[in-house]
Amino acid sequence: MLRIVVAINDHLQRLRYNHYIVSMRKAASGFSPVIALDRKSGKPLHKQVYEAFSAAIVGRNLRAGQRVPSSRALALELRISRIPVLNAYSQLLAEGYFETRRGSGTFVSTSLPDQWISLGRGPVVSFQARPERRLVSRRSILLPFYRRAPWTGKWGAFIVGQLAFEHFPFRIWSSLVNRHVRTVRVSSLHYGDPMGSEDFRDTIASYLRTARAVNCDASQIMIVSGSQQALEVTARVLLDPGDKVWIEEPGYWLARQVFTMAGCELVPVPVDEGGLQVSAGIAQSRKARAAFVTPSHQFPLGVTMSASRRLQLLDWAHRSGSWIIEDDYDNEYRYESMPIASLQGLDRNSRVIYIGTFSKTLFPSVRLGYIVIPRDLVGRFLAVRQAMDICPPHLYQAVLNDFIAEGHFARHIRRTRLVYGERRNVLVEALRSELGTSVEVWGAEAGMHLVVTLPKGLRDRTLSELAALQGLWLWPLSRCYLGPARRQGFILGFGSTTPKQIPKAVTQLRRVIESQ
Ligand SMILES: Cc1ncc(COP(=O)(O)O)c(C=O)c1O
Repeated sequence: MLRIVVAINDHLQRLRYNHYIVSMRKAASGFSPVIALDRKSGKPLHKQVYEAFSAAIVGRNLRAGQRVPSSRALALELRISRIPVLNAYSQLLAEGYFETRRGSGTFVSTSLPDQWISLGRGPVVSFQARPERRLVSRRSILLPFYRRAPWTGKWGAFIVGQLAFEHFPFRIWSSLVNRHVRTVRVSSLHYGDPMGSEDFRDTIASYLRTARAVNCDASQIMIVSGSQQALEVTARVLLDPGDKVWIEEPGYWLARQVFTMAGCELVPVPVDEGGLQVSAGIAQSRKARAAFVTPSHQFPLGVTMSASRRLQLLDWAHRSGSWIIEDDYDNEYRYESMPIASLQGLDRNSRVIYIGTFSKTLFPSVRLGYIVIPRDLVGRFLAVRQAMDICPPHLYQAVLNDFIAEGHFARHIRRTRLVYGERRNVLVEALRSELGTSVEVWGAEAGMHLVVTLPKGLRDRTLSELAALQGLWLWPLSRCYLGPARRQGFILGFGSTTPKQIPKAVTQLRRVIESQ
């Protein structure tokens, strides 16, 4: 069993969680607004305290129902006696700004009329009125303004990227979290290694060598907050503005965002049943600086890159001095064959940056992923990472290290492979019986999503918006294209849709399609 190494004198440095609990309880209190007391102004202190609170409430910096500090805590904070604070509080209570709840403290009143809390009194500027004066970086406006997609409004069937959370062993996970928060050590509170904790990297390296045929050891592994940060670090290390980058067409839009923000020129390379069409990429841009690929389970079409294309891609990278960024995001879940070995494992020229994530095997909010870095680039990645966020947080690395080392991870994957396999079978069968050959199904061999392509003439975005009103989450395939969409269809996530819900959701899907 692997345990976190404690480098410093244990009995002196160990901190008991209880210490924090006790001091937190004592200090537990609301926040006060900024109160700049002016003792020389001649205005009584209680009046100054009163005005600070009433202005914060009217200006909506303190919201209805928000707790305010106890009079004792505020007096201590302001270094004045309690009397002026008590006077101010009783005035605020009398005027209805505050209310008290027996035994739990003083709060901003929940019954202040809306019109009374006018925005007009605060320093609110209408940003939209003068957009030209709001200067932001050129890099940031390379991305479209963030808006929540209309088809993601409700929590319904076919959500992409959602998992069977009900099958996650939360009891075990919680007990491991407890283990690590009950006994906190100074070493785990300080800045850690920018690569991540050594024990955890060791554990990941042995998992990747065994399960994914990745050629690596712990010194090449950098722990990051998911694939997204992995891409961001990688782009900062390897790419300059103006560099050409091959991306899969259709492909993963969040990878596209990273390369776009890095100022790169995206070269959409078509994907077919054999994965990325390497010869098309070479014809379009032989000298591209990098290629981003999902060879084990192409996102979104779900195909596996053929062996000949893999070798062709590696050969191109070697000859042109280009980088391959391999995103191996969900390969643990294959239903009809053994997991596919990584592209990185075939590489003899250290041209592949391998990226993995725990978003699919655990849950996305754990925000843990890793990069396997060619040995000679480790120092460069470290410098960039340190400039970005210094090091990854400690707690979940320690918890997940134990979760893997004690066998829970492997067990969880084995169990959920059966769960997702069943959901996939039910979905494929329901699609066949409801929609027959009117739609084409792609990529049902692995992962937690598949793609259905629509008959000619139907627009996936229109249908997705319609479906969202009924609580169906149909991610439009056309969104995955950089250029004109060659196919219209939907990405259907089945990770969080139970076998019982699936037939009904597919009937709904059929009705949406037939309504057009
Ligand atoms: C292609 C691809 N890569 C990576 C991820 C996971 O990203 P992250 O690790 O940042 O959660 C996803 C999630 O859906 C994905 O579709």
